[in-house]
Amino acid sequence: MTRGKKLLRVLAGEAMDVPPVWVMRQAGRYLPEYRATREKAGDFLSLCYTPELAAEVTLQPIRRFGFDAAILFADILLVPQALGADLWFVTGEGPRLSTVTTPADLAALKPAEAIHETLAPVYETVRILARELPGETALIGFAGAPWTVATYMIAGRGTPDQGPAHRLKEEDRPTFEALLALITEATIEYLSCQIAAGAEVVKLFDSWAGSLEGADFTAYTLKPAARIIAALKARHPGIPVIAFPREAGKNYVGFARNTGADCVALDNSVDAAWAAAHVQKDGCVQGNLAPVHMVTGGQALIDETRRIRDAFSGGPHVFNLGHGITPDADPDNVQLMLDTLRNG
Ligand code: CP3
Repeated sequence: MTRGKKLLRVLAGEAMDVPPVWVMRQAGRYLPEYRATREKAGDFLSLCYTPELAAEVTLQPIRRFGFDAAILFADILLVPQALGADLWFVTGEGPRLSTVTTPADLAALKPAEAIHETLAPVYETVRILARELPGETALIGFAGAPWTVATYMIAGRGTPDQGPAHRLKEEDRPTFEALLALITEATIEYLSCQIAAGAEVVKLFDSWAGSLEGADFTAYTLKPAARIIAALKARHPGIPVIAFPREAGKNYVGFARNTGADCVALDNSVDAAWAAAHVQKDGCVQGNLAPVHMVTGGQALIDETRRIRDAFSGGPHVFNLGHGITPDADPDNVQLMLDTLRNG
């Protein structure tokens, strides 16, 4: 007889007829109950730093949909804030941060070990969730990968092409590399505390990995991921790690092998049949339904859900979207995806 949480079983290499499923950004603005709790918190950052409310929004999509995993409610930009950057969110526009572009800016940041003072409420959220989640639901902790976090710290905001980060990399590589090294160490500290508090899996979001090529991809996406994963596994033997080098394209091939990740999350630009042959042959994959189907629904959603499930049915697979669910998604379409997966 097989037993244990479905997510943990596939991360350990088991293939299942009905794969475990969760959705990136599953706690979010497409859910009316999320919007109500966010209103109560006042603003997004207060929601992240109020453990009872952050735990509540984490649990909402589990109650509504019965996903196989809950992902801690927080944000990748809490780490820059904990390192001493100013952080705020402009409604309708996104995050803003004080910038790091000079050796003096870098020197003004705190050391990696100092982040816990700011991030302690996040660990408390994890402890609440470890107590309150249903027995079959796995708890995923997460952090941004160093390159992606650095793109926000350098530009002070989200950028379409990560231009400011690329510029610093070309013009002052020592400062750029020292910033990445600091974020790498902070990320190890942060994820390690999430695991100690009860996270059973951790995920590393490298949302902008696709803008690095060749030797830069190796140096700034692959190597930091390998360092973080090795450090976490040394401190917490057996902890499974999901890596998401979004839009890595052909660089998805071998990524798990070369970083030690237990699972590679695929964005929806990747063809599932290709990924089954070239990426899943090394182990578990996650993905990769296009988020737009959560907006449009209908037969296309059903067909795509089946196509992706079937393409990956020969090996370990975590069903998910290829990127975060959007605020205009219809919760009924999430239910339709789940019904399709579970009932044929
Ligand atoms: O997936 C989950 O449900 C867990 C929570 C989570 C959030 N952000 C909550 C959030 C996770 C895992 C993230 C990761 C994150 N945050 C990433 C990496 C993944 C990705 O999407 O590529 C990035 C790049 C960020 C940075 C960030 N946070 C941006 C650019 C924005 C603004 C864009 C937006 O959607 O509004 C955020 C805000 C944010 N983080 C929201 C949520 C639910 C929306 C805030 C709100 O309630 O208004």
